[in-house]
Amino acid sequence: MEFLSFFKQYLASPKYVGGFAPSSRLLAEAITEAAGVSRASRVVEFGPGTGAFTEVITKKMPPGASFVAIELREDFVKAVRKKCPAVQVFHGSAADARKYIEAAGMDCCDCIVSGLPFALFEDELQCQILDAAVDILKPGGIFATFTYFFSPSFPAGKKLQQNLEARFARVERTPTVWLNLFPAFAYRAIK
Ligand SMILES: C[S@@+](CC[C@H](N)C(=O)[O-])C[C@H]1O[C@@H](n2cnc3c(N)ncnc32)[C@H](O)[C@@H]1O
Repeated sequence: MEFLSFFKQYLASPKYVGGFAPSSRLLAEAITEAAGVSRASRVVEFGPGTGAFTEVITKKMPPGASFVAIELREDFVKAVRKKCPAVQVFHGSAADARKYIEAAGMDCCDCIVSGLPFALFEDELQCQILDAAVDILKPGGIFATFTYFFSPSFPAGKKLQQNLEARFARVERTPTVWLNLFPAFAYRAIK
């Protein structure tokens, strides 16, 4: 059921949805571990989709931690609110992250878990969203974003790594998670 609703959104807007199936539980475990969700008191998620990472974040974050998600597509906003009713989900772009975290009463966050399809974004949009991420992270905060294993072979995928390295003090890669459609890894970028 979740696969079908995701696939429908993919057909409507392939460039912004980015993949035709939700991420696997193993990828959700890897990206939330890379972001340090279990030690964070303020977590932000970009592009929750149907909530594959959202659900794991809610289970891993410490009791009392704050969590805000920002999603561009209205149908996904509804889906993730239904799946994780305790999460504050804003309908809008991650490029406007500061506006949304302030509306939720935060001035910065400890980590960001991103499901955005950066490797399909033009350079300008990549830069806008990465600048917004750097702006809302505390010093030493972590930005984790996944990408399919083949994307660094393509220009926008290469650009993503360069854009991360230009903005963050350290950029690392997790091992590839093979049980995902398609296999993927996460960048862990530290401010
Ligand atoms: C590849 S899907 C990932 C969904 C989910 N995190 C997962 O891994 O299954 C990308 C998601 O990012 C959302 N998205 C794309 N551009 C966005 C933006 N500028 N701001 C917020 N969400 C965006 C899409 O609507 C979609 O839900």
